Amino acid sequence: MRMRNKYRKPTTFHCNAGSRCSLSAVVWSLVGCLLMLHLYSLVCHKDGVGGDIQLRMSHHPLFRELEEVEEENIQIPPPRGKRSPRAAKRRPKRTTTLIDEFLDESSSLRHIFFPDMKTAIDPMNEARNNSFYYSPGRIWLDTEGYPIQAHGGGILYDEKSRTYYWYGEYKDGPTYHAHKKGAARVDIIGVGCYSSKDLWMWKNEGIVLAAEETNETHDLHKSNVLERPKVIYNEMTGKYVMWMHIDDANYTKASVGVAISDSPTGPFDYLYSKQPHGFDSRDMTLFKDDDGVAYLIYSSEDNSELHVGPLNQDYLDVTRVMRRILVGQHREAPALFKHQGTYYMITSGCTGWAPNEALAHAAESILGPWETMGNPCIGGNKIFGLTTFFAQSTFVIPLPGLPGSFIFMADRWNPADLRDSRYVWLPLTVGGAADGPLEYNFGFPLWSRVSIYWHKRWRLPYGWIGKK
Ligand code: GAL
Repeated sequence: MRMRNKYRKPTTFHCNAGSRCSLSAVVWSLVGCLLMLHLYSLVCHKDGVGGDIQLRMSHHPLFRELEEVEEENIQIPPPRGKRSPRAAKRRPKRTTTLIDEFLDESSSLRHIFFPDMKTAIDPMNEARNNSFYYSPGRIWLDTEGYPIQAHGGGILYDEKSRTYYWYGEYKDGPTYHAHKKGAARVDIIGVGCYSSKDLWMWKNEGIVLAAEETNETHDLHKSNVLERPKVIYNEMTGKYVMWMHIDDANYTKASVGVAISDSPTGPFDYLYSKQPHGFDSRDMTLFKDDDGVAYLIYSSEDNSELHVGPLNQDYLDVTRVMRRILVGQHREAPALFKHQGTYYMITSGCTGWAPNEALAHAAESILGPWETMGNPCIGGNKIFGLTTFFAQSTFVIPLPGLPGSFIFMADRWNPADLRDSRYVWLPLTVGGAADGPLEYNFGFPLWSRVSIYWHKRWRLPYGWIGKK
């Protein structure tokens, strides 16, 4: 299913004269040394600063299991309804794909993509042996027994309270179309916040930034759009800062909004919205680097490219520095992470609520150049791989103590009833040679591979949970 080196460019070398041959021998030896060094760095699992080798995924028996490819065999049902022999003659039998079935509310496969409440994950009720298992796509209940409402979300680890906070779109309202051709939508209700010590059992902390009910000119008026909220902590000011995609119902405002709070559980005060660097901005995320510099990454120029730029010191605005990346690639839903000094990003294509193929990208500098490595999704089946497991990236959670191991967070959108969109959390690892294109290195893989493994059910190693 995975296409190795599908973007690799051909590299040919010619040798015409003796002197050039000896020069090329030197070049080749150098390239050989570089390759050896690179291979060495790939097999050497030393973790970044301090070389702190703890539970490494591929060494841990449980993670070896998680890297095994789990297949899905889903039979597409025959077309419904009887057809007269004449109709059958006129129009050949329509063959549906799994994507058609996924998007069809009345499909007999609906329960596979959107299993009902009977199969919900209820952390308060799970038998001991079932605890801590993620079940991508199943309804996930909070500690009070209600489905978690934190779509397009992101995670903040708060050092002070040693707690994880999950922020996302609270979409527990009716889905409707603002006009015939408009995307399905739910009025803004606000940003939901959930807290957890183990990334599995989540307590509802309420709506930490609420919609504006009456003032129609306010960015947060319920008729507008608030998507993909992300929160980071600013050490200098001691404030929690939230950035989000702010739009009107037609997605023409294309702005970012900023809000601020003294506490991770809010309430957040909404400050303002703007078009960063003077450009349209839709799907977005934040990334806080090890040196405390935070960056805004957003889809721009009508989603044809991404822009990345540092925030200023208090994280309340962008600076004048901005770089265009993945130009002409039409990517959105960016989720960034860093491993051993290299920046990685997962993005989706631009097909609204419908799922599409994820791509992994890598860069030495967050400002670019970024290279596209290929589709990181492994397992399920071909269509699972081509649809990001019927979901769309939103965030990647680093797992302290498990270098090279992350949780990939994605949304399985349900455009017929957006509040019932599901979460697809899966193990993501960085390691091994990349699939990669690699324009700058004679076609040798320069980056480690990013792999996201499909699992119906999986959990983090026992040793990790509760460590924090
Ligand atoms: C997607 C985007 C979502 C939401 C949706 C609306 O492309 O990633 O966050 O904006 O479009 O159709």
